[in-house]
Amino acid sequence: MQFEKVVRKRRSVRKFADRPVDTDLIKEVVMFAQRSPSWVNSQPWQVYCASGNSLAEIKRRYQQNDDQGVPTNPDLAVMSREQWAPQEQANMKQWGHQIVHHFPDFATAHATMTNASQSLYNSPVILFITIPKDSPDWSIFDAGAFTQTLLLTATNRGLGSIVTYNSVRYPAVLHQVLTVPNDQRFIVGVSLGYVADEPINHFRSDRVALNKLLHFR
Ligand SMILES: Cc1cc2nc3c(=O)[nH]c(=O)nc-3n(C[C@H](O)[C@H](O)[C@H](O)COP(=O)(O)O)c2cc1C
Repeated sequence: MQFEKVVRKRRSVRKFADRPVDTDLIKEVVMFAQRSPSWVNSQPWQVYCASGNSLAEIKRRYQQNDDQGVPTNPDLAVMSREQWAPQEQANMKQWGHQIVHHFPDFATAHATMTNASQSLYNSPVILFITIPKDSPDWSIFDAGAFTQTLLLTATNRGLGSIVTYNSVRYPAVLHQVLTVPNDQRFIVGVSLGYVADEPINHFRSDRVALNKLLHFR
């Protein structure tokens, strides 16, 4: 696929079809992501691929934690909206407004988003990206670059994707189910799969005007 088309086509998928993803395709996507740049080529990322029974167990334990009101405890701290800088707060507010108005009414929007989130988007595969706990902030940057290459490669190969905090909000569950060493920390989960033809997947997020971020001096 033409590169610009790939960039435009990538968007967050919040409902995947009931169709598995071939293991060779997953390997290929991760191999391309390895071409990402990193500080002194440190390549700090590890990828733990959950599908089938392991992913079902993660979903079951997340649901159990939610039902019991277990507080979420992601390895990267979550900041309350009010603590963010004003422009970013405004961007997030705008996104929330637009996604709600994508649906016929608030109740439908709320129910659809809650279901998407609780079912982990019906993902057939989640790639959990970790870096060592003993890493500088630069490694988080590198993991981000790795993730973006992964997302674009997935798009190029006909796969839908979404990167989520939601899938890494209970790291203790992930350490146990995926037998991830305790010296690793979870950055994000990347769901991969085939896109279901559902209204939630027809939503397109917008972007701020270029002059709000590009400053010629
Ligand atoms: C680090 C990170 C975490 C995210 N976590 C979630 C999440 O937990 N749930 C969700 O629905 N979307 C999540 N997203 C997706 C963003 O909402 C999405 O990328 C943004 O709205 C732009 O839309 P687009 O990806 O369709 O272009 C996350 C994105 C990033 C980069």
